[in-house]
Amino acid sequence: MLITVEGLDGAGKSTLVAGLARALDAIVLREPGGVELSERIRALVADPALHVDPRAEALLFAAARAQLVAERLRPLLDSGATVVLDRFVDSSLAYQGGGRGLGVREVRDLNRFATGGLVPDRTLLLRIDPSAGLARIAGREADRLESAGLGFFEAIARAYDELAAAEPERFVVLDASQPPERVLADALQAL
Ligand code: TYD
Repeated sequence: MLITVEGLDGAGKSTLVAGLARALDAIVLREPGGVELSERIRALVADPALHVDPRAEALLFAAARAQLVAERLRPLLDSGATVVLDRFVDSSLAYQGGGRGLGVREVRDLNRFATGGLVPDRTLLLRIDPSAGLARIAGREADRLESAGLGFFEAIARAYDELAAAEPERFVVLDASQPPERVLADALQAL
């Protein structure tokens, strides 16, 4: 089974993923990353010193994803493992499709090619107000995407809401303004 966790930076994904891994005895992977090539792409897309065109950005995330699926994720799912994946295709639909304005349909087509059409069994969306998300990450050193500002975050949040509304059978929407243990309890109950 493939469970993905989605949401804005600052929504508390890492905390939820760690809690789920303990409770479900699942294997945890993250995007971009999880295998060597994809971790190297992660360093490229996060680097504030680089200018990355939105199309190039979408392609880099898709390339990282293609390698993760082929090298690690597909084999794990085929062997019957439960995998909790910190971000997947929906991140690209929301960040590049919505946030960067490339269009959800175009980015979805690209990602269908990248993943061979792999769709999560369940997707947990940590829903948080964009300004609250920004406030939560204010203390950290911002990577290239996190420094893009409130308008970018608002567009991403809108795109996530639309994705969740379009596929209510796959998405579980969680209120990320609650304490972490409450969010985890809600997630486990929904799963
Ligand atoms: P993430 O690992 O959640 O952030 P961090 O570990 O730094 O807290 O994601 C890294 C950034 O990449 C984040 O700002 C979201 C962005 N991202 C995309 O824009 N598109 C994608 O497809 C993915 C997977 C991530």
